[in-house]
Amino acid sequence: MEGGKILVRLNRYLSMCGVASRRKAEELILEGRVKVNGLPVRELGWRVDLEKDVVEVEGREVRPSPYKYILLYKPCCYLTALGEPKEGKKTLQELIEKVRERVYPAGRLDYNAEGLLLLTNDGELANRIMHPRYKLPKTYLVWASGEVSEETLWKMGKGAKLEDGFAKPDSVRLLRHERDRSFLEIVFHEGRKHIVKRFLSHFGHRVLKLKRVAIGPLNLGNLKPGQWRELTEEELRKLRKALGLPYIGSLSRR
Ligand code: URA
Repeated sequence: MEGGKILVRLNRYLSMCGVASRRKAEELILEGRVKVNGLPVRELGWRVDLEKDVVEVEGREVRPSPYKYILLYKPCCYLTALGEPKEGKKTLQELIEKVRERVYPAGRLDYNAEGLLLLTNDGELANRIMHPRYKLPKTYLVWASGEVSEETLWKMGKGAKLEDGFAKPDSVRLLRHERDRSFLEIVFHEGRKHIVKRFLSHFGHRVLKLKRVAIGPLNLGNLKPGQWRELTEEELRKLRKALGLPYIGSLSRR
């Protein structure tokens, strides 16, 4: 802050807009592709007034996203819902009490499943996370009942007809066996309800424990059950790219 102004370095500003990483943004600046208030700026230390300055990259105005993106580790035994507990079941509300914005889960996890959820007020991005058309892979680690044989694994890879249509994982791997249970990694880019449970049940295996460890380029990292944090600029940029949202997509064209 300087005299009430909020100033940020130009490369950070560009990264906040999802244009490029801070390092790549420096290259754009040095190459003379960035203007502030209509004038080219090649100075790396240049600082932008968040309130007033107009920044353009190659003639397009760029602005930081007005949206909020929260990465949450949903613990087991929470409903993927907001608001008051329902029928004695806790909701995500109590975990994100400190988030002031109204954000909604982009996708769901079953009550007894755990793992990664993105909550946001960016509807377009949320739709793309959930819609199979955008093919964003979601990675699950699963303990399944019984011994998943090599043959079953091969069949799983080919897909199966479920009651609401065909389902085929992007990949499925057996990580290990343990007496009467099997540990699998399974990746789906669709979000039909109970997709993993129904898919495994088709092959005669019950899900004992299910954890989503990644959504596209986002992963659980160091988050512990019940913890959340905001997406980093880098993560948001990667996610937008994976969803085919170019940085100019959310930004206004002059
Ligand atoms: N598939 C399921 O069966 N449950 C989940 O929570 C997520 C994917």
